[in-house]
Amino acid sequence: MAKNILGYAAHTATSALAPFQFQRRDQRKSDVEIEIIYCGVCHSDLHQARNDWGNSIYPMVPGHEIVGRVISVGSEVTRFKAGDTVGVGCMVDSCQTCSACEQGLEQYCETGHTLTYNDIDRHDKLPTFGGYSERIFVSEKFVLKIPESLDLKGVGPLLCAGITTWSPLRHWKVGKDSKVAVIGLGGLGHMGLKLANALGSHVTLFTRSPGKEADARRLGAHKIVISTNEAEMASVKGKFDLIIDTVPYIHDLNPYIPTLSLNGTLVLVGYLGGLEPALNSMPLILGRKAIAGSVIGGIAETQEMLDFCGQHGITADVEMIKIQEINEAYERMLKSDVKYRFVIDMKSLKA
Ligand SMILES: NC(=O)c1ccc[n+]([C@@H]2O[C@H](COP(=O)([O-])OP(=O)(O)OC[C@H]3O[C@@H](n4cnc5c(N)ncnc54)[C@H](OP(=O)(O)O)[C@@H]3O)[C@@H](O)[C@H]2O)c1
Ligand SMILES: [Zn+2]
Ligand SMILES: [Zn+2]
Repeated sequence: MAKNILGYAAHTATSALAPFQFQRRDQRKSDVEIEIIYCGVCHSDLHQARNDWGNSIYPMVPGHEIVGRVISVGSEVTRFKAGDTVGVGCMVDSCQTCSACEQGLEQYCETGHTLTYNDIDRHDKLPTFGGYSERIFVSEKFVLKIPESLDLKGVGPLLCAGITTWSPLRHWKVGKDSKVAVIGLGGLGHMGLKLANALGSHVTLFTRSPGKEADARRLGAHKIVISTNEAEMASVKGKFDLIIDTVPYIHDLNPYIPTLSLNGTLVLVGYLGGLEPALNSMPLILGRKAIAGSVIGGIAETQEMLDFCGQHGITADVEMIKIQEINEAYERMLKSDVKYRFVIDMKSLKA
């Protein structure tokens, strides 16, 4: 076992994250060993650290927006060498043989993909630990190449917030004539605005927060709609081909459905669970509208998104923090007080 890795862990759903010395599984022949430089802080880290989804395994070292440098490679690794700058997102393994995996849709693996943390390794049955740590071993199939042109501080969030908004934009074939809306301007939302804008679509932000208008425009929105204002909501009736809903908590979808165009789709990526209040099917049926869901993206698609970001100079807008500030960062994230992603400088682990 790889000994004495230092990280930060949650030990229960209510305890603060604290320094944690742990052991990782042994390096395999197909593994890349990565020294972690930066790790983004996703709202999913908070959900899982606090057991919001009821499936948390403790102790938990969160972190799935990992950017680092390769320090060694196993004997079967062909695509990476020591010194390469690489990324790791939300998954580190899948069965590789089911029909989803064969289509490059590892995120929908029929046996379930293996999460970067809060999961059990499918080979040696040891817990997986994430990016709030010094080092990680990842099978080279799940390691991404980072375009050299990008500022590394803003790259980590592409590995989750970026791909989670990119995948629906691509699946629903967003392009120059598309009208896209994003609900919620946080980590995912701000990447959604940037990516939809770069794909050439007309982009609208739905937000509860009036103070975000100037930022939203700078990030790529052409229009901002305050979702609590009925007149503003009515002004965009029938408009959107695709709405990406990033809101992390239960909320009423009914006000958004009439803003979809004929054949339009609202894709949920934020909230997991039962919806309330009940959904009125009438506007769905009368306008052949759809509600869908989507989870992260496949590895090939993630590389496509990173390459696109490299070509277009797209990274996340980040606030750098030290690992010692992680608990405060979670509290601020709960208040939507982040512009627009916290990223941990992993050097601080050794401070
Ligand atoms: N499907 C996937 O693969 C996937 C991947 C990553 C994350 N996620 C999930 O996506 C969600 C968003 O993650 P994130 O990191 O972007 O979170 P975030 O940075 O906290 O942003 C969420 C945004 O949603 C809005 N919001 C927050 N609470 C709300 C509420 N109670 N009602 C209405 N709007 C609210 C806020 O925007 P405004 O102030 O502009 O309204 C906030 O900035 C999380 O639940 C996360 O677990 C899913
Ligand atoms: Zn995430
Ligand atoms: Zn599979």
